[in-house]
Amino acid sequence: MHSLTLANGRQIPQLGYGVFTMSSEEVARCLPEAIAAGYTHIDTANAYFNEVAVGRAVRASGADRESLFVTTKLFPQSYPYAQCGPDIDASLERLGMDYVDLMLFHQPYGDYVEGWRAMEEAVDSGKVRAIGLSNFPVRKVEQILEVARIKPAVIQVEINPYWNQHTYKAALTERGLADAVFEGWYPLGHGDKALLAEPVFRELAEKYGKTPAQVVLRWHLQEGNVVFPTSRNPEHMRENLDVFDFELTAEEMARVNALPQHAYYTVPEEPPAFVLVHNDYSKQA
Ligand SMILES: NC(=O)c1ccc[n+]([C@@H]2O[C@H](COP(=O)([O-])OP(=O)(O)OC[C@H]3O[C@@H](n4cnc5c(N)ncnc54)[C@H](OP(=O)(O)O)[C@@H]3O)[C@@H](O)[C@H]2O)c1
Repeated sequence: MHSLTLANGRQIPQLGYGVFTMSSEEVARCLPEAIAAGYTHIDTANAYFNEVAVGRAVRASGADRESLFVTTKLFPQSYPYAQCGPDIDASLERLGMDYVDLMLFHQPYGDYVEGWRAMEEAVDSGKVRAIGLSNFPVRKVEQILEVARIKPAVIQVEINPYWNQHTYKAALTERGLADAVFEGWYPLGHGDKALLAEPVFRELAEKYGKTPAQVVLRWHLQEGNVVFPTSRNPEHMRENLDVFDFELTAEEMARVNALPQHAYYTVPEEPPAFVLVHNDYSKQA
């Protein structure tokens, strides 16, 4: 598994397994299978309501904790400074883990500026190895950078070939985040059939003896993105890992990057109602 180096010097596997929209039962069924197939990086969140199941499945898999890279995320209700530390502890308790490799602020609303200090303290105490931001527009990342003692090591946003985020990445690089790792969510377009049917992906799949999904994932890797496609299908799980034995040429990368940049699937400009709901994450089966 190819890895990238985070600003804290630790390795992050470039290809992982995401568990968004998976019920606890699905996590129990699919995650051990994914780990057995070779995934060593898991992306979950408080808001997925499956941290308990993720922790249980990791233990059931028999995998050594140190061999895995586990990410979880806090929702805005956890950002106030006094709340953030206890909620990081609660997340670790649900996972049944002493630490997570990466903790993200999931959405750019609420008290993220004061909460960042609690995230830094969690790094100091070893509960969290790296911290980062998800779905933060440039101006809100700047607010964090103004107070940060530890800069965000990871920026997670939606990235797909129709929304390659070159402008966003360049803007953050200019603002001092040149060593941040970018993670792309919805890497396969969240099941959008039109994306995988793009002629360029069909043609390159034919050329390399791969599937269009594998070509899309290969494009992500060569863009430097970390991705964690979700799949409940064991064949897809294996297929998505099998992307390290071919390489797109510079001209082929340019062809993909010439696709019209029009289709991000969700970028909330204003807090959607669900972000403001105070959920009780302890209620997980
Ligand atoms: N930070 C955020 O706000 C945020 C938001 C959304 C997602 N995420 C993260 O990103 C992860 C991935 O997002 P996602 O699952 O929504 O989107 P995705 O990975 O782009 O797409 C998943 C869909 O693609 C299908 N698929 C997977 N492998 C395939 C293959 N080889 N060929 C054809 N179809 C394939 C899956 O179906 P099958 O089950 O049939 O394979 C599923 O329907 C999430 O699990 C989560 O960790 C983060």
